[in-house]
Amino acid sequence: MLRRIQQAGHRVFLLADRWGNVAFGSANNPMYHLGTLSFFFFYILLITGIYVYIFFETGVTTSYTSVEELTQQWYLGGVMRSLHRYASDAMLATMVLHLSRGFFSNRYRGARWFSWSTGVPMLVMVFILGLTGYWLVWDQLGQFVAVRTMEMIDWLPIIAEPTARNFLTNTSITDLFFRLLVVTHLGLGLFLLGGMLLHVNRLNEAKINPPRILATGSFLALLVLSLIKPALSHAPADLSVSPTVLNLDWFYMFFYPLMDIWPMGYVWIFVGGGTLLLFLLPWLPPQKREHVAEVYLDDCSGCNLCVQDCPYEAIRLERRSDGHPRFSHEAMVIADHCVSCGICIASCPFSSPNRHSEKLTTGIDIPNRNIQHLRDNTLQAIEGISGDIKILVYGCDHAVRMGKLDIPGVAALSLPCTGALPPSFIDYAMSHGADGVMLTGCRKGDCFHRPGNFWMEERLAGSRKPQLKRSIDRRRLMVSWAAIPDKKELMADIETFRQQLSELNSQEAKASVGETSPATGR
Ligand code: HEM
Repeated sequence: MLRRIQQAGHRVFLLADRWGNVAFGSANNPMYHLGTLSFFFFYILLITGIYVYIFFETGVTTSYTSVEELTQQWYLGGVMRSLHRYASDAMLATMVLHLSRGFFSNRYRGARWFSWSTGVPMLVMVFILGLTGYWLVWDQLGQFVAVRTMEMIDWLPIIAEPTARNFLTNTSITDLFFRLLVVTHLGLGLFLLGGMLLHVNRLNEAKINPPRILATGSFLALLVLSLIKPALSHAPADLSVSPTVLNLDWFYMFFYPLMDIWPMGYVWIFVGGGTLLLFLLPWLPPQKREHVAEVYLDDCSGCNLCVQDCPYEAIRLERRSDGHPRFSHEAMVIADHCVSCGICIASCPFSSPNRHSEKLTTGIDIPNRNIQHLRDNTLQAIEGISGDIKILVYGCDHAVRMGKLDIPGVAALSLPCTGALPPSFIDYAMSHGADGVMLTGCRKGDCFHRPGNFWMEERLAGSRKPQLKRSIDRRRLMVSWAAIPDKKELMADIETFRQQLSELNSQEAKASVGETSPATGR
């Protein structure tokens, strides 16, 4: 059931990604930069927040008047205030999309629990920041937030004296309370920054800044919105009157109206229970642990390539434990961080199927999907292809299903990630009967294992080690990134590739006849 929901949600995201790719190109598709955009909106919040705070006068009456004065200077103070408000909505929106994307695409379990579970408290913090921000203005909307929040807190059996009572009269609320509120708002902002840095701590080379063009576009969009629809206050708070017409910020206040239709206990189950459930999701239901990577010292030179490439910071370099005469270090896998993506196998310079060993070994491997299996499967797959043109496709478990590619003349093998394919296998397949090799996997910019397909491309281009041999005829290699719904496009690319290979074969056949025939005179 859960898997079905995830698959349906994932399809919606893949569709949105497709539109995003058409409109912005894959490098600038906002759907691929939801985390970095959240960072970017936070920076806007920080800068505009400092500006607004400079002019903010903390106090029951002064808060409102100082914000009003700031807003009247529409071209600067007003814009800064509006940017602060809209960036907070934008940040919440990108966060929710980012977490939904992680959930639906199943990128939150196993070793990824850390990013997920640090993300949930950040979400709570962003809500508290947003709500205290509205409260600080102390207009009718702030009054609404204050009274509703206190009613919720009063329902909990933890406070003997109901706090909402403190908000029942204009005289009972103090400047001191507002100072506390400001400290909470500013302090939480700093905590959030700490949380954000912790959040990406276990991810190798995590990108925290969106591409410049996307950042500029997002900023301009917020600026235009701030100019055409500036953030304004409601009438000043007056606790003797209940506000009747309010423009709620639905991003932050969506749960308050529930208090009018549900008993408070239900609202708490929705808000508190929902947050707890979200936090526990990576373990619901518990997942069978996959085999993690293992280091084989006989083939490990401590070269550091797997450490650099592991997307999850799951490999460290340690002092050698076997007293090797030439190598001073060895790789060591942190089992709790490993998601069994196999990218380390491709980084290891020993992962070559061309090595003359009967039993193929390498420096780092995944026991149940090891390099020996991959070599055996490669040979078996090529042997099983019938027809004039033999194409071997290497794909991944998270994109178009390789098992469903039932095309004559084509054999397909699936890896945990395309980035787990040592480039020397391309060479090996070609020299063992494949006319061409095709690489496929998740769409570019959306690799299930983060940089997997980027690093594969870098290896092919020769900018990341280990590289694909320069002597390989690149015309016999095709890369076609294709997510689950892109099977048709992948099939079309395979067909184009087949024609390309057929032409190449006939050209080469003609050339070799020419070379050997005495009639040509060459
Ligand atoms: C302040 C809000 C947030 C920011 C700025 C943020 C930012 C980021 C960034 C920059 C990454 C790394 C992306 C990469 O380079 O692969 C990331 C990964 C991740 N985030 Fe967030 N995030 C936020 C909130 C959340 C929330 C609320 C959740 C879930 C509850 C979440 C779950 C995750 C997960 C599971 C990953 C790992 C994804 C993977 O391994 O592919 N994040 N986040």
